[in-house]
Amino acid sequence: MANPRILVFAGSIRAGSLNQKLAMAVVKELALLDAAVMHVSLADYPMPIYDGDLEAQSGPPENAQKLQRLMGEHHGIFIASPEYNAGVTPLLKNTIDWVSRCKVPPNPYKDRVFAIGGASPGGLGAYRGLMMLRQSLTLGLGATVLPEQIAVSRASDAFGDNGALKDETQAKQLRSLLARLLDEASRYAR
Ligand SMILES: Cc1cc2nc3c(=O)[nH]c(=O)nc-3n(C[C@H](O)[C@H](O)[C@H](O)COP(=O)(O)O)c2cc1C
Repeated sequence: MANPRILVFAGSIRAGSLNQKLAMAVVKELALLDAAVMHVSLADYPMPIYDGDLEAQSGPPENAQKLQRLMGEHHGIFIASPEYNAGVTPLLKNTIDWVSRCKVPPNPYKDRVFAIGGASPGGLGAYRGLMMLRQSLTLGLGATVLPEQIAVSRASDAFGDNGALKDETQAKQLRSLLARLLDEASRYAR
């Protein structure tokens, strides 16, 4: 069986982002599981706010097409999403929307598996934002999203100096989520 390729990115490009920390913890854990893992920052894929007139004039931006192709090269995708007012960040939603407008195959939301997680300084760990992300990916785009997810609450103090989750229960939950992601992604790597 081929080694599944996993792409990881976060819905925040803020310096010191808690969700980038979560993304990095995911990358490290996946590497320990021998996955072929790639981490990108949405800072490297800037796009204008979606506007139908802009799309009609010039189609999806080059960065949306680049990200679409990159997603299409992976069998599993982990998205770490902050929660803004109980929803996903405009950065992440705008990215998902533009990429969904790339009509040339491959469809990056199909034939691969998604896992989602979030981190927040608050008590809910971006849980409500994850619900919106799950809705957009599954209902809106027909993606397969693992039912398991991770919501890291009080995240300002959740990561140790080595970048791993300090709480052993949460660390175990993350390992289990990523093992399932790899297992499901391997079905698409055959
Ligand atoms: C516009 C805005 C709305 C926010 N709404 C929520 C919220 O609903 N729930 C929550 O837990 N945190 C909320 N926060 C705080 C974020 O969780 C916090 O800024 C977090 O650090 C953002 O993720 P990041 O560290 O990955 O950038 C909000 C922050 C902003 C800027």
